[in-house]
Amino acid sequence: MCGIVGYVGDKQAADFLLEGLSKLEYRGYDSAGIAVYDGSKIRVEKCVGRLAALRDKIKDNVPQGSIGIGHTRWATHGRPSDTNAHPHTDCSGDFVVVHNGIIENYLTLKEDLIEKGHVFKSETDTEVVAHLLEEVYNGDFEESVREVLRRIEGSYSLVFMCRQHPDELICTKQDNPLVIGLGDGENFIASDIPAIINRTRRTYILNDGEMAVVRKDSIKITNRKGEPVTKKVFEVNWNAEAAEKGGFEHFMLKEIHEQPKAVRDTMSQRIAKDGKRIVMDELKWNADYLNNFHKIYIVACGTAYHAGLVGKYYIEKLARIPVEVDIASEFRYRDPIIDENTMLIVVSQSGETSDTLAALKESKRRGAKTLALTNVVGSSIAREADQVLYTWAGPEIAVASTKAYTTQLILFFMLSLYMAEIKGTQTEERVAELVAKLQQIPAQISETLSDVEPIKTFAKQYGFNEDVFYIGRSLDWDVALEGALKLKEISYIHAEAYAAGELKHGTLALIVEGVPVIALATQKSVYEKTLSNIKEVKARDAVVIGIATEGDDELGKYVDHVMKVPETDELLTPILAVVPLQLLAYFAAITRGCDVDKPRNLAKSVTVE
Ligand code: G6P
Repeated sequence: MCGIVGYVGDKQAADFLLEGLSKLEYRGYDSAGIAVYDGSKIRVEKCVGRLAALRDKIKDNVPQGSIGIGHTRWATHGRPSDTNAHPHTDCSGDFVVVHNGIIENYLTLKEDLIEKGHVFKSETDTEVVAHLLEEVYNGDFEESVREVLRRIEGSYSLVFMCRQHPDELICTKQDNPLVIGLGDGENFIASDIPAIINRTRRTYILNDGEMAVVRKDSIKITNRKGEPVTKKVFEVNWNAEAAEKGGFEHFMLKEIHEQPKAVRDTMSQRIAKDGKRIVMDELKWNADYLNNFHKIYIVACGTAYHAGLVGKYYIEKLARIPVEVDIASEFRYRDPIIDENTMLIVVSQSGETSDTLAALKESKRRGAKTLALTNVVGSSIAREADQVLYTWAGPEIAVASTKAYTTQLILFFMLSLYMAEIKGTQTEERVAELVAKLQQIPAQISETLSDVEPIKTFAKQYGFNEDVFYIGRSLDWDVALEGALKLKEISYIHAEAYAAGELKHGTLALIVEGVPVIALATQKSVYEKTLSNIKEVKARDAVVIGIATEGDDELGKYVDHVMKVPETDELLTPILAVVPLQLLAYFAAITRGCDVDKPRNLAKSVTVE
């Protein structure tokens, strides 16, 4: 996730570009840059760090001109650095581009362009777009951009500038947001409404495949084929704060709703063209090397630890390598048995959690080979680990982690399938079947999110005032742990998760009339057993809300309410089943008037021991 802006009008472009970027820093802030046409050439200024660093760099010499583009970056390809910061240019400096998204075929394009003599300056996927435009440019800016779009694959919102056409910007989008703000004798482009809301409330929201040629007094919008598109003006009536949250009341709710896109981004570039296998080109351990690992530790904190529990299940089930999962603050002091055939996987959204980082360093010292699963490119954990796999979920702002968890699950699943193929532990058909199911997950999450009203009603109806129990078996237990954590951290309600079969060994004493129990029953292999445990709590007059998969007509007979998630392979249900639990926690917190995005006593990133 990055933030992009554009301006064309009579005023100084840099004023709007810097103002707009400051409103988009929630989309990423590891580097920033602007490009402004100064009457003879396009001047690019960019640097690593937050926007303040760029402001400081140019404060005595702000680029002058009335057309320009800007970018605030959240690194995906290439660490945060001055050269990797946007805007990116071709060899001549005549073609300049800012980009939000991922160009999936950039390596092939890059090789081809290098062969044709183009010289690259950065490690980014974006730079190929500028060189490609230079390569195909035929004097017609619009037609040349269209040709570039025919050749690139992936997700993007893009804004192009060209020295030969100094009165227009061209922008387009595919799977990433882009809005055009309509001014008076000036027009604005931005990733998101907060950037333009102080200048205008009249907007065009671009759809996938649409392209706009934006001048100070005209906007021409066409579709992929070049046919004109007539758009309705969308009048924004949110305030600036709501706009930053995309119209949602809280970042947490926004991030819950971002999950379909986030998991799609995690998958992008990691599924083979034939859709039957997983590719992990970024993993530099070859097959022989991977085959040597006979033990894996997964180490993490909080929600990332819960993702690790599911990760263990995936790796053991699919790749048949023994896995232990540890809480980082315990692992580092427990004298773990590690040798050079041990793989240590650390999981961390932020890549900065102190305990996780310390566990990683300790394991390296003892000779383990280390792999980080993280969301933040260039973070301490990403730099310290031998290998890194990024979740590419975009910045997560709410303290309670949601999209980080689901993307970590996706990544673990893909890693397990990848290792399964190397180890020959699954048939080609089974792998292909699971990859096909995996690709349905984004749409299935959207389906789960399409009607949140019943969950809101449960949260209000039960009030959830004292203790809530979450039960499940197998993967359902892992999800129960995450569901209970969500409820605790944002609504301050005491919640505990138990392996459903373990209840009878003590905790069942706490189940009395009216105690709410959230019972997950999505795992077919242990379904009957779970049902028995549900009957045990029902017999003690608990109020039971069941989580089942579509097509399950049985569970409803034994519980008070059922929430259903779409049908998929039981290995993948955690990614769907956690969504109603996130929403339940969210609405319970709202009902109780809690500060959802900033729960008491907690921090997003814990950089102390
Ligand atoms: C904090 C956050 C949690 C998070 C945990 C680990 O406690 O509040 O939401 O799961 O840290 O964070 P990490 O960035 O390492 O995933």
